[in-house]
Amino acid sequence: MGERSVIAIDQGTTGTKVHRLGFDGKFETLGGFEHRQIFPRSAWVEHDPNELVDHLTRCLALGKDAGAIGLDNQGETVIAWDGKTKQPIYNAIVWQDARTEDEIQRLKATGAETETLQRAGLPLDPYFSASKLKWLLDNAPEAQDLRRQGRLRLGTSDSFFLDRLTDRFITDVTTASRTSLMNLETLEWDPILCDLFGVPMDCLPEIGPTAGELGEMNGIPLTANVVDQQAALFGHGCRERGDAKITFGTGAFALTIAGDKPLRDAASGLLPTVAWQIADEPCTYALDGGVYNAASAVNWARGLGLFADYTEIDSFATEAAIARDIVFVPALSGLGCPYWDRSAAGMWLGLGLDTNKSDLMQAVLEGIALRASEVMRAMSALTPPGDQLSIDGGVVRNGYFCRFLAAALARRLTIPSSAELTGLGAAQLAMIGAGLATMETLPPAPPPGQVIEPGQPLAAELHSRFGEAVKRCRAWR
Ligand code: G3P
Repeated sequence: MGERSVIAIDQGTTGTKVHRLGFDGKFETLGGFEHRQIFPRSAWVEHDPNELVDHLTRCLALGKDAGAIGLDNQGETVIAWDGKTKQPIYNAIVWQDARTEDEIQRLKATGAETETLQRAGLPLDPYFSASKLKWLLDNAPEAQDLRRQGRLRLGTSDSFFLDRLTDRFITDVTTASRTSLMNLETLEWDPILCDLFGVPMDCLPEIGPTAGELGEMNGIPLTANVVDQQAALFGHGCRERGDAKITFGTGAFALTIAGDKPLRDAASGLLPTVAWQIADEPCTYALDGGVYNAASAVNWARGLGLFADYTEIDSFATEAAIARDIVFVPALSGLGCPYWDRSAAGMWLGLGLDTNKSDLMQAVLEGIALRASEVMRAMSALTPPGDQLSIDGGVVRNGYFCRFLAAALARRLTIPSSAELTGLGAAQLAMIGAGLATMETLPPAPPPGQVIEPGQPLAAELHSRFGEAVKRCRAWR
């Protein structure tokens, strides 16, 4: 294979997969490994960094004949380690982890959110890396000691993997844009933000481009390093302003291309973020809207026994639950975009003695779609929707969900034939970063699989009804 293919390693929240992309467009998955989800306390989520590295190494071995490597990462997840031994000093704190909520509330009370919104484009929320890095600095055994010796390294998960496997202590600009420590205009660590969160800038990695010469892993050039959601945006073929994708994985992550300038509107609750940067070219920006619970809500409902087999929830004989006044707000980890409110809790409303498991489950699927619809409506208000709205992720295998989503968005949806758009995007970026292709000469993308027409759009009063339910679930905890 060698020069005729590249591999992408998709290091996501639940597992690590390796894919190969050939110059003929052939795209295949070579293997994958799931890792442990560690829940030491309520709202805490951790991974073992050494287990992740082990899986990355195994993925590398499966793709050892590639001409270049692209790596995508789980975004805001952070690690602290000893720069000398390259050993982690604590578990990775995962993006879902809300242990820093009190610190975030303290910062909010000081008015610090004005600075984070203006400089990083991000609201104050435990989701972003900054408060987690400060937590590691304060709580990881050895952190202060290592810091005194100039050996402490703090970074997003990619920077740990690169330090360990390429011997370069770098991150990329998309990942740095998720930390709340990078200035969105200068694309450098912002001293005021580092100071505000108490994260020492000298412990942070250098910020590099998304695609370019980033080092070598196993003797193979690493030529792309990117957040998984941004990789998926690229893999979905979104290139023009307004083109959008929503990935319904653990959470639901909507991204729209914003163009060559960050699109800011703090009141919208949408996040200006970096989509990608090819070598030293100017950045392409995106608007991001993350909803914390999508597949996590479906899995939770399955655990409760609301269904056993996915075929049971692929269609429902009844009309939409929301049209029957049964509503579920999937705020199981609080509300993300556009509310950024961790005080919200998941809730069913409108239950009666006649409500059954199937009704509850129908409302769960609708609630996920309606939260995504809230995000997309906020996006449409800021940037005119483009031609393309492409969706992927485990939840889109559910026929009822997709039909309901198309009606809620009143838009035609495309589900690509490949389910591995994140890996595809990382591989395409790696080809570009290696100089083996340009945006224009990339191998043909897999054909679109399914197109879902909106049919009868969901009535405005049902959107309002859902909005009412969202209001009621806020300030609950
Ligand atoms: O913001 C978190 C997101 O990047 C995680 O995505 O696919 O690893 O669940 P995923």
